[in-house]
Amino acid sequence: MKVHVIFAHPLEDSFNAALFRLVTQTLEAEGHEVDSLDLYRDNFDPVLSPQDRIEYHDVTINQHRVADYVKRLQSTDVLVLCHPVWNFGWPAIMKGYFDRVFLPDVSFKLLDGKLSPGFTNIKKVMTVTTYGCPRHRAFVLGDPPRKNGTRFLRAVMNRRVSVDYLGLYNMNNTTLDARRTFMKKVIRKLKAI
Ligand SMILES: Cc1cc2nc3c(=O)[nH]c(=O)nc-3n(C[C@H](O)[C@H](O)[C@H](O)COP(=O)(O)O)c2cc1C
Repeated sequence: MKVHVIFAHPLEDSFNAALFRLVTQTLEAEGHEVDSLDLYRDNFDPVLSPQDRIEYHDVTINQHRVADYVKRLQSTDVLVLCHPVWNFGWPAIMKGYFDRVFLPDVSFKLLDGKLSPGFTNIKKVMTVTTYGCPRHRAFVLGDPPRKNGTRFLRAVMNRRVSVDYLGLYNMNNTTLDARRTFMKKVIRKLKAI
């Protein structure tokens, strides 16, 4: 299968970078066709410019500055996101990716006021992420990144999309064992794709 992996972390020696390498290497070893996008190393510009906003609803031109990113999403079967949780959301560079690439007629269609999903080609979405805080603290706040990685993404994909959200909580007090167990879980889930 074709798998598009999108990664956001500034440091190549971070745990998230290790997870990103684990994800791509496992998928390749399983024989999948992997298309990796490392947003920092790609120098992705996350800022929705005044011109981007002016053109946002004009589906004849709104894709032209991000056409390559759109094409990569439209030609994949599986989408995997790999990122840390920052301020209970995606890192800014990844949030900006969604702002600029998830456009009308791309991630959703708007016809006679009715919304329908745009990425009907994507049948599996997985998030691999880490939190500093324990799960109960995130739960009290409604765990917004979990909702984005599950409900929001589900809404713009194929109606039968299968969604996995793999979160390692409590990185502020993590142990080697906890990280190893999480990595094994990530491998197990990737092998089940
Ligand atoms: C800018 C910034 C914001 C953060 N905000 C949160 C947060 O809102 N909730 C949380 O649980 N952890 C937060 N953290 C902790 C990170 O999630 C944690 O450092 C990361 O998951 C560890 O992975 P890494 O070693 O790959 O960076 C934040 C860290 C940074 C640098």
